This record gives sequence, C-alpha cells and structure tokens, in this order.
Amino acid sequence: MGDDKQNSNVLWAGRLTEKPSGEAFAFQASIAVDKRLARDDINGSRVHVMMLGKQGIIPAETAAKIDAELARIDEELAAGSLAIDPGAEDIHSFIEGLLTERLGDAGRMVHAGRSRNDQVAVDFKLYLKRIVPEIQKEFIAAINTLLDQADKHTESVMPGYTHLQRAQPVTLAHHLCAWCAALERDLGRFADALVRLDECPLGAGALAGTGLPLDREATAAALGFARPSLNSMDSVADRDFALELASDAAIAMTHLSRFCEDVVIWASEEFKFINVAESWSTGSSIMPQKKNPDFAELIRGKSGRTAGNLVTLLTLIKGLPYAYDKDLQEDKESLFDSLDTLTMCLRMFRGMMGSAVFNTEKMEAACTGGFLEATDAAEYLVCKGLPFRKAHEVSALIVRDCIAAGQKGIAGRTLAELKSHSELFEDDIYKAITPAACVAARRLPGGPAPEEVKRQIRILRERLEMISL
Ligand code: ARG
Repeated sequence: MGDDKQNSNVLWAGRLTEKPSGEAFAFQASIAVDKRLARDDINGSRVHVMMLGKQGIIPAETAAKIDAELARIDEELAAGSLAIDPGAEDIHSFIEGLLTERLGDAGRMVHAGRSRNDQVAVDFKLYLKRIVPEIQKEFIAAINTLLDQADKHTESVMPGYTHLQRAQPVTLAHHLCAWCAALERDLGRFADALVRLDECPLGAGALAGTGLPLDREATAAALGFARPSLNSMDSVADRDFALELASDAAIAMTHLSRFCEDVVIWASEEFKFINVAESWSTGSSIMPQKKNPDFAELIRGKSGRTAGNLVTLLTLIKGLPYAYDKDLQEDKESLFDSLDTLTMCLRMFRGMMGSAVFNTEKMEAACTGGFLEATDAAEYLVCKGLPFRKAHEVSALIVRDCIAAGQKGIAGRTLAELKSHSELFEDDIYKAITPAACVAARRLPGGPAPEEVKRQIRILRERLEMISL
C-alpha cells in the first residue's frame, strides 16, 4: 500500500511503516475543508513558537527564524504566489511540512508541546472569532435595510394575519419591525456564542497537556483570547462553540425562511403587496409572462441545509468517548456551510428587500372586506362599559348580519341596525373602525400605531449603533 510521494510529509510517518494508499489517504485527509484555516493556523503557530523561544524550550533565535518564515508563508499565500497543496493531509501538516522543507531542523521544532488536537481547536476558534463579526455586520446591514423601508411605511396600513387569515390592521412598518426584532435576537445569539468560545485551547496538547513549561496565559493573550481553557481534555473534546453557532445559524435561517415565505405570498398575483425588483427576480423558460421570486424561495430552501448541519453536528458529537476522536474532523464542513449559507442569504435578502417596492393601495384595500375592524367594534363597546365577552358576541352578530346582507364591513350597517344589537352604539362608531383608526388606537408599546412603530424603529437603530465590532 505504500505510496512514498503521498506520505513523504505526513506528521506521523515514524510509527507506521505502511501508509494508506492514495484513495484511502484522501479519504482521511481534510485539506479541502480546512485550507481556509491557513491564516489562523499560521497565527497560532507564530504565537506558539515565540512562546517556546521565550520559555527557553527552543533557542530564541530559532523561534524568531520560524516566526519570520511563517510570516513569509502568510504573505505568499495572501499574494497567491504560494498554493496550498491539495494532496496534503490537512492545513496543519501542510504548513509544518513547508517550514521543514524551508528551514530543516528549525522547522521541526515548531510542534513542541503541541498536538494537532489542540492546534485544530485553536485554529477553528480563531477563524470563528474573525468571521462571526463579519456575519454580525451582515445582520446589521440587513436590519438597517428593513428599517429604511419601515421608515417609509409607518402610515401604510395592511392586514395583519393569524392562520393566514386577515386578522387586524397593522402597518407595513410594524410587520417589518417584527422581522427586525427576530434578527436583532439573532445578532445577540452570535455575540453570546463569541463570549463562551473565547477560551484558548492551545497547550492542551493531545488531551493531557505537556510536561514542557509552556506559558498558556501568554499564548491565550497574544492570540486575543480572554483566557486559556480550563481543562485540557475538555479543550480537545469540546465543540460546543460549533454546536452553538450552527444552532444560531439555523435559527437565523429559519427566520429568513419565514420572512421569505411572506415575500413569496405577497408577490403572488392574488396578494400583489410587493413588487420584487426585476433584478431580484427570474423568469420562466416556458411561460413568457413569469416573474418569479426565486431569491426568496432559495433563501427559504437553503434554511433546510442549516437545520441539517445542526443535526449533523449533534449526531456527530453525541457518542464520542473523551477526549479527541477523528470524527471531530467532520465538524468544520457543516459549520462552514451553515455560516457561508447564512452570510450569502443575509446579503441576498438585503438586496431583494432594499429594492422592493410595496403596493400600499393594495395593502390598504385588503384591510376592507375581511371584518378586520370586528375587534375594534367590540373594544368600542368595552369602552362604553359592556363586558368584553358580551361585546365580542355583539360584534360577531353584526358580522353575521353583514355577511347575510352581502356587506363587506361593519360600516355598511346603519346606526339603527347597530343599535338593535346594542344601544351603546353612537355615530362615532364609524370613525372608530376605519383601518387607520384601528391602527392608530393600538399605540401601546409594541403596537402598530405610526408613532409607536417610529419608537420601535428608533430603539432598534439605537441598539444597532451600540454594537461595536
Ligand atoms: N485534521 C484534523 C481535524 O480536523 C486535525 C487533528 C488530527 N488529529 C489526529 N489525532 N488525527 O480534526
């Protein structure tokens, strides 16, 4: 089975005389997935090696030499003058192999007191520490885009739905702020995950630490972690941070999926509440008239991947004996996919929503005909002293009269007809049950009244401004 070329720079060549053949070697390799950790692997190694020098574990000048070479490799990779070898086992062996190739024995000193088990955990965390703020920026941009639309529509009344049946009038801004509230929680979830993952596993070794006098406090601080991790076995076994972020991504994608479902419904001929821009739509290969909200549908569809990735990770980890198991190598592909998917979907969602035009006449017209004012008619009677349960019944009976008479709203009834159900009705009932009046009356905190939604928009903007990334 031996394949010398394939195995010439594997890190474990001393123990095994026979090595997996090409196909088997490729099966256990992870370079295709973990190559994106190159920068983080280099940063981790630079800090580790300088600490080794400082602690006298390797000569200080050798440490400086390795550090300089790592910096050079970093630059070459960034400039594209150095390519990552797709035949390497993983990013750790590729970088270390390169160091040895270029520096000989000096390169062979870098791994003292370290295992790929703590190395991969630190690389993964470093990557997430720099990528999660980028995702948070995408959330902020998406929320701001929705708030810009909300600003324009604090007075635009539309039906609010329960059971996808028209329920009560709200404003478009109120609906958009409902989405923003969900996205703002998502932002918070990502921030929380960053706090908990902020412990540096470097120095945990394979699982049991090392007898070499490493300075874990120093490497944790130099890499920008709050502290070294507490327990070396936990350090290499723990993937809670991946589970949390996969969960955060799945929840966020579930939100986007629901918003997109609204968009798809609103874009239908039957609703026509929204006009998705042509540049954010696609046509049909056979039906010439079609303009489809494909972007919204794809975002909705991609939410499935993120739910799947979360389940993959939970299943991957649930049966693993402590501490490290090679199964854990499978962790990155799922989380990378979830975070990539979320990033792209946030960008697409923002583009689609920012350019969308709302059909406010259609929305307002849809507030009439579905008896959306029935609750307000009942509350009118409550204000005049009728117990709510009775008021509810009176309003329901009036709705039944309207339906029997083919009338589309309570306003179609004469005052005498209304009074036949309750003497409490006066002329002012007609003003109280217009869609605008129904909305204006609901000005409690959280409600759809224009001035209240303006407050919600202001609070959301203030919260976003307080976030420093
Ligand atoms: N590529 C591996 C991973 O992603 C690195 C750790 C390998 N450790 C080991 N003992 N085989 O997990």
